[in-house]
Amino acid sequence: MQEIKIFCPATIANLSCGFDVMGVALDTIGDEMTVRKIAERKVEITKITGQDLPKEINKNVAGVAASAFLKKAKYCGGFEIEIHKKIKPGSGIGSSAASSAGVVWAMNELLNRPFSKKELVEFAMQGERLASNVAHADNVAPVIFGGFVLVRSYAPLDIVQLPTPKALYAVILHPQIEIKTADSRKILKSRIALEEGVKQWGNLGGLVAGLFKEDYELIGRSLEDHIIEPTRSILIPGFEEVKKKSLDAGALGCGISGSGPSIFALCQGIEMAQNVAGAMQKVYDKIGIDFEVHVSKLNAKGAKKLK
Ligand code: HSE
Repeated sequence: MQEIKIFCPATIANLSCGFDVMGVALDTIGDEMTVRKIAERKVEITKITGQDLPKEINKNVAGVAASAFLKKAKYCGGFEIEIHKKIKPGSGIGSSAASSAGVVWAMNELLNRPFSKKELVEFAMQGERLASNVAHADNVAPVIFGGFVLVRSYAPLDIVQLPTPKALYAVILHPQIEIKTADSRKILKSRIALEEGVKQWGNLGGLVAGLFKEDYELIGRSLEDHIIEPTRSILIPGFEEVKKKSLDAGALGCGISGSGPSIFALCQGIEMAQNVAGAMQKVYDKIGIDFEVHVSKLNAKGAKKLK
């Protein structure tokens, strides 16, 4: 194979109770990318559509991740990359992760999979470091593994793929304002109280158990954030009302997607998801900030080849 065209999914990181350690891939929201083998041993970004992003390799998250891959690959050629952005940077649904994880996934396919998924995550994390100053894996790992992913440990990196219950849908409300992950990390406290930790790890365990048991109520009860949400939600206009109305409309749970401004809800079934999308929309219609609402099934496969 000389060339591959792929879909790189958007992702919801944190999932309320799992700051920096939990994420899930979405099915119908994501970027497209074409990666081609070339004779010269270098990485080149030849085209970017949809967003005004730098093509210089060391300034582009896909370029940085691709270079990390090429440095370790036993391959004498290089790669040419075309990126078609559909996910806006600073949206909270893993725009940088779609590019950095998508490109290394595609390169690995072109070379007949010399690297493990975990190694791909390590390359993609270099792109995240460029985007937010922190090499977090909770967006890139779901792009590469698919479905729900737990980053059990960063040093050493230990990634656990979790089940994706079939009836789960995500609703995303994306206010059209940009919040840079680096900025929304700066406002976080670096220390937490023991009682907050107790609630948070209780919920994280509950979420993992809920996914294994396909216990939708348990999944919903576990989508609570006692540590990050109280601080970050002040950056998101109407957050509390969107959350309240989503839960009233039947959402299992609702919180900040990644570092925001997007708000996510998880729902059991498409009907519930559509009701919740309508409820979110009603709140934002009054706020006067442009927004988009998406309903998506969860994506158990992650990045995939397009025909
Ligand atoms: N875990 C990261 C954060 C995700 O919340 O800063 C960013 O998308």
